Amino acid sequence: MKREFELKATVTEYDSVDELTNQEQELMKMAQKSGDSAYAPYSNFYVGAALLLKNGKIITGNNQENMAYPSGLCAERTAIFSAGARYPDEAIEIMAITAKSTNFKVDKPISPCGACRQVIAEYEFRHSNNIKILLMGEIGSVYEVASIKELLPLVFKEKRLSG
Ligand code: THU
Repeated sequence: MKREFELKATVTEYDSVDELTNQEQELMKMAQKSGDSAYAPYSNFYVGAALLLKNGKIITGNNQENMAYPSGLCAERTAIFSAGARYPDEAIEIMAITAKSTNFKVDKPISPCGACRQVIAEYEFRHSNNIKILLMGEIGSVYEVASIKELLPLVFKEKRLSG
């Protein structure tokens, strides 16, 4: 018997970053600042991420490109792996991601690539908590999702791989 089912995603859109809490606005600023230090000579696309950990620490990261293109890494994974390396026992509560380009104005939120979504999902599993994600371009509206599950339905998850 064949059946279809629909997967629903809920995204909250804010017209402006000013509508976020002070703490979230601060995180957005830190993401933007980190994005300014990205190493992106090939794409000229500068992505920054700022993570708020449960212990209150903020970890930032940005995209790091390489002339062997696939060797580079997105901002989200640079930040999240840095958090995992430095604070392995701390859950991530909020992840702010911003993007800008020297070639055009990024006036809409950018959304993490598939590989980053899978990595973010694993940090949710690892610490059994949802990570709120805030997405923004250089200007314009902000998207908020309560969990990566909104962006990655049917996530790859297989408990038996870890024993
Ligand atoms: N990039 C990120 O850092 N995060 C994303 O969510 C999408 C893309 C980076 C990878 C590459 O350095 C540049 O943006 C262009 O794809």
